[in-house]
Amino acid sequence: MLKKVDFISMDHGTKNDYDLIAIHDFENERNLFFRVIEWLKMMDGESPYQISRLQHSLQTATRAEEDGADTETIVCALLHDIGDVISPSNHSQVSAALLRPYISDKNYWIVLNHGLFQGYYWMHHYDEDRNARDKFKDHEHYQDCIDFCSNWDQKSFDPEYKTKSLDYFIPMVKEIFSRKPKPFV
Ligand SMILES: [Fe+2]
Ligand SMILES: [Fe+2]
Repeated sequence: MLKKVDFISMDHGTKNDYDLIAIHDFENERNLFFRVIEWLKMMDGESPYQISRLQHSLQTATRAEEDGADTETIVCALLHDIGDVISPSNHSQVSAALLRPYISDKNYWIVLNHGLFQGYYWMHHYDEDRNARDKFKDHEHYQDCIDFCSNWDQKSFDPEYKTKSLDYFIPMVKEIFSRKPKPFV
């Protein structure tokens, strides 16, 4: 049976207790990669788009790779919508939070804000400001986020596009989640 801490409230925890938890947390972190793949698989299935959310993610990553993006950026393209599985209404923030300990500040910012930037393609149909993203016009990654949406995300709903498989991208996901996580970001 799994060894347990002695305390029932944290203020009574000892160093030994917290060492035990740290070992568990480390294992949990090490296995994150497997859970990420399972969450991606949950994005398969019916959707009102012509392809599944998983296929959209794979296609976005495929386009990133074909444009010569590095592995980290490809993985961000693959996982940019994974927050949909947990919290559809703020999926960009959830995807970004998952990736943040393993990626650059630039890629974090792009994933975090891609939902707003992607709004350029649909918000005006609902009398909303499609240029709402322009509040970030002076941000150093403004154009990068526009490019992410324009070149990869908004285009990747094409059932005819030669999209690479999930198996193809798994080693890349493993590589990024094998990085030492940045603490307390
Ligand atoms: Fe999205
Ligand atoms: Fe997307």
